[in-house]
Amino acid sequence: MQNKKTIHSTVRNQFSQHADYYAQSSVHAKGDTLNALLDFADPKGTEQTLDIATGTGFTAFALAPKVAHVVATDLTPEMVEKAVELAQQQAIKNIAFSVAAAEALPFADASLDLVTCRLAPHHFQDVRAFLSEVHRVLRTDGLFCMNDSVSPESEKLRAWQNRVERLRDNSHVYGYPPSQWDAMITDAGFSLEKTAHTRNAQMSFLWWVRPEKNPPEVVQEIRDAFAQLSPDEAREHYTVQPEGDDFYFSWPTYTVKARRR
Ligand SMILES: C[S@@+](CC[C@H](N)C(=O)[O-])C[C@H]1O[C@@H](n2cnc3c(N)ncnc32)[C@H](O)[C@@H]1O
Repeated sequence: MQNKKTIHSTVRNQFSQHADYYAQSSVHAKGDTLNALLDFADPKGTEQTLDIATGTGFTAFALAPKVAHVVATDLTPEMVEKAVELAQQQAIKNIAFSVAAAEALPFADASLDLVTCRLAPHHFQDVRAFLSEVHRVLRTDGLFCMNDSVSPESEKLRAWQNRVERLRDNSHVYGYPPSQWDAMITDAGFSLEKTAHTRNAQMSFLWWVRPEKNPPEVVQEIRDAFAQLSPDEAREHYTVQPEGDDFYFSWPTYTVKARRR
């Protein structure tokens, strides 16, 4: 396992090259995960909001018209730069940006009403430090709404999925199963109000595996790993649908609404 400093530089290295790719990714732009998060957040228009690991800003931009103000943060300066450019193009006024790690947030204690984080904690080295920081910056009764790709509860599939994700992208740290998220969020001082098993959009394997970046032997290793799943595992956990030389699939995701105690 890489140490925290190394993981942060691996993440920056990975995402600094992909700001345009993310900005154009329909998997990140829409789908169940964004709708579920907005539904759980259910803003009233008065919230001082923070979106952690905003990437190129999809979640922050969807929240901006529904809250008083959003600060969008991310570890990777190039992602933040792209988000700033997109916010200007979309004339979003009630938004500010900051380069910051999820594990060390540059905000005062109890200064926020709503914190969101979507499709990112599987890149965080220290998820407990992230949860502790979210707890610190939220006021009592403030809301934390999070969504992330998760692994199944089965130990075998948990190991399988995390290995495959890391093969494709070495900035993947760990996709926890829902039961571990529930325990960690509760331990960090939140009450779980709602949870939902969601999914990201169906993705083409040949698109997702990034053949332009990963060498053919790694692409083949990942393809072979999918072929080793049983038909039931492939269908039930990963919605695998063959299509010619390609196949479509999705990762399970988990959406959480938690109230700061
Ligand atoms: C999949 S993208 C973000 C998706 C975005 N939340 C959305 O809704 O479209 C993951 C982002 O997490 C950021 N990231 C990874 N580790 C981080 C950390 N420890 N602290 C803050 N941001 C981090 C990366 O720089 C990247 O921009």
